[in-house]
Amino acid sequence: MELTSITGLKGTITIPGDKSISHRLVMFGSIAEGTTRIHHFLNGEDCLSTINCFRKLGIDIIQEPTQITIHGKGLQGLTPPNEILDVGNSGTTARLLSGILAGQNFDSKITGDSSLRKRPMKRIIYPLKKMGANISSILRNDCAPLYITKSTLHGMNYDCPVSSAQIKSCILLAGLYADSKTSVTEPVLSRNHTELLLKSFGADILSTHELHSSKATATITPGSKLYAQEMTVPGDISSAAYFIAAGLLVPDSEILIKHVGINSTRSGILKVCEDMGGDITLINQQVENGEAVADILVRTSTLHGTTISGEIIPTLIDEIPIIAVMAACAEGTTVIRDAEELKHKESNRIDSVVDNLLAMGANVTPTPDGMIITGGHPLKGATIHPLLDHRIAMAFSIAALVASDRTTILDSDCINISFPEFYDTFEELL
Ligand code: S3P
Repeated sequence: MELTSITGLKGTITIPGDKSISHRLVMFGSIAEGTTRIHHFLNGEDCLSTINCFRKLGIDIIQEPTQITIHGKGLQGLTPPNEILDVGNSGTTARLLSGILAGQNFDSKITGDSSLRKRPMKRIIYPLKKMGANISSILRNDCAPLYITKSTLHGMNYDCPVSSAQIKSCILLAGLYADSKTSVTEPVLSRNHTELLLKSFGADILSTHELHSSKATATITPGSKLYAQEMTVPGDISSAAYFIAAGLLVPDSEILIKHVGINSTRSGILKVCEDMGGDITLINQQVENGEAVADILVRTSTLHGTTISGEIIPTLIDEIPIIAVMAACAEGTTVIRDAEELKHKESNRIDSVVDNLLAMGANVTPTPDGMIITGGHPLKGATIHPLLDHRIAMAFSIAALVASDRTTILDSDCINISFPEFYDTFEELL
């Protein structure tokens, strides 16, 4: 994709459905009793990988342009797959599916693409084994491919060293199949879609917060059946983030982004934009199926640097690439700390953000747990290497809109992972 600078992005847009919620609805609908209907499902490659895996597990899933229908077969209704389950690029599918498969009466194998096969799986192998699961890394490198054989799962209390919704959800899903209660405590609450949605599907699940500390615990008690639901997926704030940044950075812009999920465990980017001086207004705020949603109005603003660290990090972990781009265009210095988890995403996002920002002429220094960015150095066009990481491709597409000269985004098709309509959505604003 070739991009040059523009001005005046104006109009109203809708963002595709939330990726985390779309994955979970396919999974929970598959192990629920009855027919689940999902509106505004994300038709991105990651969620299609989840659908394909559950089809191989015997679930009938019907895809139509605006809705997905899942004929759930209940907690014990999955059937042994005839082939290895391929999750493609999707870490969420790999980790949550492992939790479900650990509780099945049959053996299975999970693999993925070259990026997925480098991502750490010890973080789920270790706690699942503590529950009694038979799960192993086939190449003994703590990565996929994974081999899961049938076993009896026992409830446990797990003190998770990192705040990760993927680890938490994997353990809670295994907990659905355990012989007693399972709880997961995390240092800071990570995105809580699993807890909210499992509750809607009828699971016995409780979320608590420790007094005088940021620690959060989710506890699941097995024994309840899950029941089919009909739901509309809110727009993905992680995808909206690129248009929020574009609206703030591109001169003479005003963008209204409709019906975006603003769950407080996901919406740290809004707080950061506010701290940086961004002109953002939330309209039509409401709660649907436990998830907060709003329309987001963004206008061009002069941004200044900020510090992003501590408890806010899990609420914006996927938005750090685009926040880094905003920081490079802001006045003053932005410090990002406590974000070591960036190293374990679809690319090592400390390296991929820093390398591409340097290529565009920004002043940025990597640190072991984040980066320091000093704005005020106008960005110049460059060749961007996203390393097949969708969020790097999209973040640097926005940088290109405010850079001098031409920017080339290599392998820009990787946006299909989470936002196939990304470039088309811009056309609506020109
Ligand atoms: C996700 C959780 C996050 C996030 C990922 C999606 C999820 O990962 O980065 O894109 O849907 O649970 P971690 O849980 O590993 O932080």
